[in-house]
Amino acid sequence: MASNALNRYCQIMQDIEELVNDHILQSRNEQGSISKLKLLVPSVGLFFTPLPLQDAFRYQDAQRRISSRRFVAPSFNDIRLVLNTAQVMSLVRNSRLELVTFDGDVTLYDDGEVLKPEDPCIERIITMMRIGTRIGLVTAAGYTEAKEYHRRFAGLLDAIAASDHSHKLEHKLVVMGGESNFMFTYTPTAPYKLEQVPDADWRLPEMETWTHENVNALLDVAEQALRDCIKTLAIPVSVLRKSHAVGIYPEKGTRLSREILEETVLNVRQLISASLAGQRIPFCAFNGGNDVFVDIGDKSYGVMACQRYFGGIEAAKTLHVGDQFLSAGANDFKARLACCTAWIASPKETVQLLDEVVELGGHTP
Ligand code: IMP
Ligand code: MG
Repeated sequence: MASNALNRYCQIMQDIEELVNDHILQSRNEQGSISKLKLLVPSVGLFFTPLPLQDAFRYQDAQRRISSRRFVAPSFNDIRLVLNTAQVMSLVRNSRLELVTFDGDVTLYDDGEVLKPEDPCIERIITMMRIGTRIGLVTAAGYTEAKEYHRRFAGLLDAIAASDHSHKLEHKLVVMGGESNFMFTYTPTAPYKLEQVPDADWRLPEMETWTHENVNALLDVAEQALRDCIKTLAIPVSVLRKSHAVGIYPEKGTRLSREILEETVLNVRQLISASLAGQRIPFCAFNGGNDVFVDIGDKSYGVMACQRYFGGIEAAKTLHVGDQFLSAGANDFKARLACCTAWIASPKETVQLLDEVVELGGHTP
């Protein structure tokens, strides 16, 4: 029974693999013809690489025993993990993984936590850096000072410095804060091991309109929209206004409901989009798990800025790993416009994904 099921699942995977290949071909075709996949799923985006779904299914089946199950059908999580494995296989088989960008909260550490020296992702990230992969930490957490990023990423930054006496890994990792607003590069001799990158080395031409005036006008609209929600929905939170973001957060120990968080995101997003300020520059309003933030720009710009800083790495050679991909109120979703993505659900899954990168790429840890 299990082998019959496996054959059938593999056949389905192969059919989808072909739909994706056809979609890639059609998107390159200038005649503007529409792929079968686009007809079936009108919201489907661009695929930067083919996806070996059949192989990936076999790989995940060996671990999750999908085809041996009699009562529980392939689930959302099964499929999510098959897609992640397929993406990793496609990137590493062709030795094309040049840049990996990571979200922070829930991806590298638990929500609101920091990277600790014993966290298992650290040695995996250093292994990847040693084989030449560049790293970007693309987080919504936005600060102007190196000290604050060091507080969050100290476990990793200190471990790199301790293992790299010849400074080969200097400038091979960047932190992109506030989605796409502040860039710092790993420099072992700098205070907090991070040095601010001059704007000219990472900012994109599209960011020219992100002037002080436009940024403030957008944040004013966003702040007012947040304050209106606080009043209407009686949310017990404080407002935090920063240079490139505005957000609301509750007192420590208080949890906000998912419904209230999402209602706020959707309200605020709509009000900003309808304003003149919201049409001038891009923004990202998202549900951070127990807070709501509006940032200038979004992670697609954050990832593209990392690609630019590292000399113009292509979308098809970049992987963004994050936990927020549900389109309503999720901030990793936008990274999908700039590169390949892997959708993980916990820091533990990030570690498993990195093990796949190393294993499938034929590297020894
Ligand atoms: P991420 O998962 O690494 O993108 O971090 C998102 C979390 O960072 C949010 O949920 C907030 O709790 C926190 N945060 C701190 N400062 C900012 C900011 O300026 N903008 C957005 N989120 C921020
Ligand atoms: Mg996150």
